Amino acid sequence: MVEMTSIPGGKSTNGMLLAAMQAEEVRELEEYVTAISASVEEEMDRILPQTEETDESRLFEAMRYSVFAGGKRLRPVLVMATNDLLRGKRPRALRVATAMEMLHTYSLIHDDLPCMDDDDLRRGKPTNHKMFDEATAVLAGDALLTQTFEVLSDRATHTDSAVRCELVSLFARAAGPLGMVGGQMMDIIAENRPIESMDQGALARLQRKKTGALFSACCEAAMVLNGASREEHHRLTSYARNIGLAFQMVDDVLDEVGTEADMGKAVGKDADLGKATFASLLGVEGARKQAEFLCSQAIQFIQPFGKDARILELLARFVVARGH
Ligand code: IPE
Ligand code: IPE
Ligand code: MG
Ligand code: MG
Ligand code: MG
Repeated sequence: MVEMTSIPGGKSTNGMLLAAMQAEEVRELEEYVTAISASVEEEMDRILPQTEETDESRLFEAMRYSVFAGGKRLRPVLVMATNDLLRGKRPRALRVATAMEMLHTYSLIHDDLPCMDDDDLRRGKPTNHKMFDEATAVLAGDALLTQTFEVLSDRATHTDSAVRCELVSLFARAAGPLGMVGGQMMDIIAENRPIESMDQGALARLQRKKTGALFSACCEAAMVLNGASREEHHRLTSYARNIGLAFQMVDDVLDEVGTEADMGKAVGKDADLGKATFASLLGVEGARKQAEFLCSQAIQFIQPFGKDARILELLARFVVARGH
């Protein structure tokens, strides 16, 4: 179960009470997240069965290790909440949400490798390469990435092959050289440059690819499944862009002020590396305020959907208020 209590309060820049989530709001979001997480894990269990002792069983074990290690499951929640808003059928959205979580988990396994961020802890557990070995972790990531596309292109995801093709293309663009992987490259290059060479605009462009691309793809995938008017598309993509950037800002803040126990991963690494992050450029308070502003904007974009946007609104507020 995802722990969402102990959320600090505070007023956002535009006066909306954003960061302070009432206990019942936290409970409402927690219930939704818990139900979606359980469904995603059931789906993952079907997609990645425990195998008999074969040559591939170590690979499946490593894939299962990271996908079942926990995680907040925010991206699947974003797919499902957008799908619910558009009144889409849940089973096929669930397959897309599960595929997204597999893709995200691959990105974490590779992000933690010694040649990347060299981390030992992820989701409160030893990282994949620590638990297994480096080669297995590379392969487990590769396998999760490729299997993502197997899931999307299967008839069980959608009977219309044009829709499946569009989903594959959407995920490939979000994960590829102009999306997440491109952002990771920019991140590595930026690490080796003087911190003064990065300004807020450059960092935002980097983060929109590194983290924002998958967030945006979550909302877009639900729209590919269900169709959306121009107006809905504009509102939902704007919402996703704002929370994606805010999410990475808060990740940077928590790298500075969070604890390893709460985060389930190492903290203080960005500062140790002298890396340009929103926290180092804007200060912890400045980055939090900016994240709150982005989330209040995100909420404004979905306001016209009324009660149907309830979970998306709570999710935006959680992105800023979270302590893990
Ligand atoms: C971590 O994402 C990687 C970033 C984009 C900052 P999450 O914080 O969503 O990781 P999990 O899925 O909960 O482990
Ligand atoms: C990584 O960003 C985002 C990915 C594309 C995986 P970070 O390197 O900041 O993520 P954490 O802090 O290790 O989760
Ligand atoms: Mg990284
Ligand atoms: Mg990292
Ligand atoms: Mg980080």
